[in-house]
Amino acid sequence: MCGITARIGDDDSLEDLLVSLKNLEYRGYDSAGIAVQNGTGIEIDKCEGEVSELQAELATKDHDGPIGIGHTRWSTHGPPTDANAHPHTGCKGRVVAVHNGIIENYTTLREGLQARGHEFTSDTDTEVIPHLVEERLDAGFEAEAAFRDAIAELDGSYAIAMIIDGDPAVYATRNGSPLVVGVGDDANYLASDVPAFLEFTDRVVYLEDDDVAVITADDYRVTDTKGDAVSRPVETVEWDSEDAEKGGYDHYMLKEIHEQPVALRQTIHGRIEGEDVVLEEFPPGTFTDIDRVHFVACGTSYHAGMYGEWLLSKWGIDASTFIASEYAAYPAPVDEGTLVIGVTQSGETADTLEALESARKRGARTLALTNVIGSTAARTCDDALFIRAGPEIGVAATKTFSSQVATLVLLGERLVRDMTAEPTDECRQRLDALESLPEHIETVIEDSRAAAISERWLGDDGHFFIGRGNAYPVALEGALKFKEITYEHAEGFAAGELKHGPLALVTEETPVFAIGTGQYPKRLESNVREIQTRGAPVIAVAPRTATDLADTADEALSVPATHPDLVAILANVQLQLIAYHAADEMERSIDKPRNLAKSVTVE
Ligand code: G6P
Repeated sequence: MCGITARIGDDDSLEDLLVSLKNLEYRGYDSAGIAVQNGTGIEIDKCEGEVSELQAELATKDHDGPIGIGHTRWSTHGPPTDANAHPHTGCKGRVVAVHNGIIENYTTLREGLQARGHEFTSDTDTEVIPHLVEERLDAGFEAEAAFRDAIAELDGSYAIAMIIDGDPAVYATRNGSPLVVGVGDDANYLASDVPAFLEFTDRVVYLEDDDVAVITADDYRVTDTKGDAVSRPVETVEWDSEDAEKGGYDHYMLKEIHEQPVALRQTIHGRIEGEDVVLEEFPPGTFTDIDRVHFVACGTSYHAGMYGEWLLSKWGIDASTFIASEYAAYPAPVDEGTLVIGVTQSGETADTLEALESARKRGARTLALTNVIGSTAARTCDDALFIRAGPEIGVAATKTFSSQVATLVLLGERLVRDMTAEPTDECRQRLDALESLPEHIETVIEDSRAAAISERWLGDDGHFFIGRGNAYPVALEGALKFKEITYEHAEGFAAGELKHGPLALVTEETPVFAIGTGQYPKRLESNVREIQTRGAPVIAVAPRTATDLADTADEALSVPATHPDLVAILANVQLQLIAYHAADEMERSIDKPRNLAKSVTVE
């Protein structure tokens, strides 16, 4: 998975391209490159490393031009090297392309091209694309026809942008990887994701699979594979470009942790009326035919799904959560009474899209719970529910987790009313608590002692996170966040499971974060004692009212007391801050942790 971008105007494009590439770095940062066409040929600059390194290299050169493409890479085929960095060209340097995705039949295509005399300079699957186009241009095809004919040869997932020397257009297509056109006043843009060009335009055209876009400085055209025009509406995105900038914080992650109250207010806004939940997309009665819910998701979204499963199960609904990459291989029964909810911040995670597709094929109803309007999941599922968290740039998901869980609470209330019973007093209390959650998160952030605690309790042997009920997915999420950005060993466990194996790993150098919600207090306290007996320090993360737990533990991080179904969301904010401050002390690359990317569009 990578970020691709393009810009075409009457003036020079390099500056905008570099801004877009920086905005796309969350998709990959192994290497970066650009190509610009300036009337005297196409200049290509690319190198291993981050966009800043490319920028430094370009500062010594005079490369610019009105038509350009750019790429930031997260390696799949071939290690991150200068040669494997995109853009790639054919033998003559006339055709230049960038690509996100995987060309599954590239070996066959490459062997065929080599047999016909083409020479390759990289290990990538991408390089076959410019060679295929070049071959067709040599055979007398017009530019667009050459592009169409070449992409018809490709199997796999891809988003491609291509330029040809002397040709006044950018050619683009997608199949299973995101691509969006930005319609500007003085120039047009193309990118894997909207934040890439949000500083330049908020008018966007989401491309669909198999669309072919031909973009010029003052126009764009979208056609299907046969060349027939297709209509794709121009939409105005509501995100502000400032939402996608650091705004004075040292890291996007810290900014996004602080944005959670605002994000949650947006998530909830207009969706609670008195005792009722008002989801525009889902009026009462929408889910009366549903008798079972499956969540499919990856990473942090998987933990949000688990939280949703816990809520729904507690409220009497048959619910299960599946790791998306396992779902297609998992023989769980699915029928038209099954609602399969893909929880995915980006709406582009390949494993989640595949799981949703496998559910759809088996007759289930699908719903995308996502942050990105126009994302593949939102467009391909039967229904979509947006979490409205605003753009999240830090690779480690923070505000989207809180907004996902809050949205699941709202959706759960709709499901409960449709599938089981009338709302109870508890529903009312829960909705009240949901409305107070933004304020409570403000308190957590203002009062948090996470910076001091993370410094004091950094363990040499690892970091464990334990919880019961809804604190269990938060224990997993706390550990995921910690390992993602500190690179230190961290694991999350169901509190009661520790004694069945992992306790063997506990030493004086294994701090354990025990997440309390006020439910099952005695059991958690006894788990804490089991750990302390082995010499490990325990840090309680729990509501202020859980005084027994705080007294038993060696240290405590408190959160405001609220409805027990929601209090674990507050505990999670403390754990986000713990991970952030620990990583900051260790001077890790917090927003772009090694080997990871925000949106994984390969399986
Ligand atoms: C990647 C990211 C994770 C994220 C996961 C799922 O692995 O590094 O932070 O949770 O993808 O992403 P999604 O967009 O589907 O929520």
